[in-house]
This record gives sequence, C-alpha cells and structure tokens, in this order.
Amino acid sequence: MINSQKLNDFDTKYFIKENEEISYVITRGLYEILDITDVYTNEKYRRKGYARKILEYIINNNIDKKIMLEVNENNVPAINLYSSLGFKTISKRKNYYKSETALIMER
Ligand SMILES: CC(C)(COP(=O)(O)OP(=O)(O)OC[C@H]1O[C@@H](n2cnc3c(N)ncnc32)[C@H](O)[C@@H]1OP(=O)(O)O)[C@@H](O)C(=O)NCCC(=O)NCCS
Repeated sequence: MINSQKLNDFDTKYFIKENEEISYVITRGLYEILDITDVYTNEKYRRKGYARKILEYIINNNIDKKIMLEVNENNVPAINLYSSLGFKTISKRKNYYKSETALIMER
C-alpha cells in the first residue's frame, strides 16, 4: 500500500510503511516536469521490489509528465532500477558529487 504526503506546494513524499518506514520517494513537480529528488529503501528491505513499486506508481500517475532525476554514475543499484523503468541518460554533470559525476536521466 503506497501512501503519499504533500510536503509543501511542490514536493510530495510517497512511501511504504508497515511497523516502520520501508521505502520512500520524494518528487518535486514544477510545470510539466516531475523531478525525483530522493529515493531510499531501508537496508533491511532492499532488493524486494519496494522502490520499484513506488516509482511505478508515480510513473503511472504522471503519464503526461516528463520525469527527470540525477544519480551518481557509480550508483549501480539505482541506475539499474531507473533503467529498468525506462529512464535514459540524457546528459552528465562532472564533479556533481564532489569528484564524481552525475547522470541526468529522463523518461
Ligand atoms: C537504490 C535503492 C533505492 C533501491 O531500492 P530497492 O527497494 O532495494 O530496489 P528494488 O528492490 O525495487 O529493485 C529494483 C531493481 O533495481 C535494481 N537493483 C536494486 N538493488 C540492486 C543491487 N544491489 N545491485 C544491482 N541492481 C540492483 C535491480 O534492477 C532491481 O530489480 P531486480 O531485483 O528484479 O533485479 C536502494 O538500494 C537504496 O536505498 N540505496 C541507497 C540510497 C540511494 O542510493 N538512492 C538513490 C539515489 S539517486
């Protein structure tokens, strides 16, 4: 069961919680673009499909919008997750994470 909570005019948190918080995604909606600004799954619950489930919910509820995100190019789990949902790398920002590069992905 996916819950959502509006954080302010632009930001919404989508989350799965049972006795404790399992996974969440934060989005920022500005005009026709939806930015994914944070994705996190509690370590105990990783690789069970929770982040995928929340992202699929967000995608299905924003079919009219372009969805964008930034990810460290070394973050293999996250890149695999986003690629499997149809996100493509459209550009790179060097040294975005200190000495590491960010991929800008879109779907
Ligand atoms: C990235 C993260 C959110 C994934 O959450 P999750 O709930 O474990 O992800 P899911 O179980 O939904 O995984 C979906 C897909 O992502 C990919 N993936 C997830 N973890 C992976 C890993 N450790 N190694 C490789 N691929 C992985 C796989 O393609 C997986 O599909 P599969 O299990 O069918 O192969 C989680 O590892 C996390 O919280 N990491 C720390 C925070 C972070 O890096 N957030 C992203 C910032 S941009």
